Amino acid sequence: MTLQQAMQNRHSVRQYLDTPLTAQQIAALRAKIDEINKTTGLHIQLFTEEPDCFTGALARYGSFSGVRNYIAMVGKKGKDLAETIGYHGEELVLLAQTLGLNTCWVALTFSKRKCKAVIGKGEKMPIVISLGYGATQGHDRKCKAPGDVAALSDDDPQWYRDGVAAALNAPTAINQQKFYFTRKGTAVTAKATGGVHSDIDLGIVKLHFALGAGTENFTWGDEA
Ligand SMILES: Cc1cc2nc3c(=O)[nH]c(=O)nc-3n(C[C@H](O)[C@H](O)[C@H](O)COP(=O)(O)O)c2cc1C
Repeated sequence: MTLQQAMQNRHSVRQYLDTPLTAQQIAALRAKIDEINKTTGLHIQLFTEEPDCFTGALARYGSFSGVRNYIAMVGKKGKDLAETIGYHGEELVLLAQTLGLNTCWVALTFSKRKCKAVIGKGEKMPIVISLGYGATQGHDRKCKAPGDVAALSDDDPQWYRDGVAAALNAPTAINQQKFYFTRKGTAVTAKATGGVHSDIDLGIVKLHFALGAGTENFTWGDEA
């Protein structure tokens, strides 16, 4: 499965089977986590066969069951942390999908207290990602129209339209899709437009846009 297919096929999955991850899946995820941690300074940690984090009232409230594996998204406090976590966490979500696994970003409905992550001095863990073989592949959900999340014009290049379409496939907190893209030539700007955790969402949707548009076609601009 390609990353393009992974973006199209991915849905949040909250109920998982008992089947353990294979050694190959764990190795692939760990290799990607090591690479991200090395290049970004994040302190992402993978936990397998560790069900405690998803056994409390919040996890039940969130309809989670059978979660035995998760990725703790830890990093140094700072203004860019949320967006960085969103971007690189979604790389792991899409990698997991290509490995035949399912995922869900989880900011609220898990037990932070029972999570095994090591959170160093000056670090925080805004979110985790549940991981495993889903009981289902998840389902379609409501989706905004391209014109709701991007400034469009008749002469937009195809890569821009493809990027916006890929961004609309991205997971966002409570499916709020509160982001907005603008373009000036090949310079593209993405902004969060408010809402809960929309700074994490922004990183996620920027990765989807980049994969959809092709990084060779555009640059991120501060002002489009
Ligand atoms: C930043 C962020 C936080 C989220 N937090 C939770 C959560 O606490 N509990 C939960 O069940 N789902 C959570 N989700 C999953 C979203 O509800 C889900 O991505 C959204 O409804 C869109 O559905 P989809 O992922 O199937 O496209 C979160 C997603 C994101 C991106």
